[in-house]
Amino acid sequence: MKVLGINGSHRKGSTLLLIEEAFKELEGFETEIISLSDYVLEYCKICNACKRNGGICIVKDGYEEIAQKMKEADAIIVGSPVYFGSVTGMLKTLFDRSRTLRVNWDLKDKVCGAIAVGATKHGGQEHTLQVILSWALIHGMIVVSDSDPTSHFGCAAVAKQVDDEFEIDEWGLKTARSLGKRIREVLELMKK
Ligand SMILES: Cc1cc2nc3c(=O)[nH]c(=O)nc-3n(C[C@H](O)[C@H](O)[C@H](O)COP(=O)(O)O)c2cc1C
Repeated sequence: MKVLGINGSHRKGSTLLLIEEAFKELEGFETEIISLSDYVLEYCKICNACKRNGGICIVKDGYEEIAQKMKEADAIIVGSPVYFGSVTGMLKTLFDRSRTLRVNWDLKDKVCGAIAVGATKHGGQEHTLQVILSWALIHGMIVVSDSDPTSHFGCAAVAKQVDDEFEIDEWGLKTARSLGKRIREVLELMKK
């Protein structure tokens, strides 16, 4: 079974580190992380072509590559830095473009977990997690929390950048591991 991590940050920083932390609990699964900063995604301009042609986006900018990876995954961990209390514009753009995947319900029954990291405590991590989980629910995905022992809405972390290093709070790292563990548990249940 395959788990895809999507790093919604504009750089390879604390969000990426937290996805990697969650992946530590997913040994034995095929894993891949993509960073949206490696793509330049256009907005969905509601041309509705995907609605008419069976779910293919006519904008050729690398989106179809991401869509294909999402289709092939059994679980997706979506991570975003908190930007003004919500997800990054780039991640929201991916969410909007993923309308193509709703034409045939390609993401239905895939497992989804969320990661949010901000520079401050109470900086909007919970709202950011809710935005990610709402996207997953609208696709008919199976949403998971970080479950026990931390058990809230996913991984919620605070990161501080010191030169080129990122210091991530212990709670954030712990919730990342709990999320990875929960994804493993649910995938194993599905395998049975
Ligand atoms: C435009 C912008 C808006 C931000 N807004 C918030 C915010 O509302 N709350 C918060 O805690 N941190 C905020 N931050 C800080 C980032 O969420 C934080 O530095 C995060 O760790 C960056 O993740 P990355 O290292 O994966 O890029 C903001 C940063 C930027 C650039």
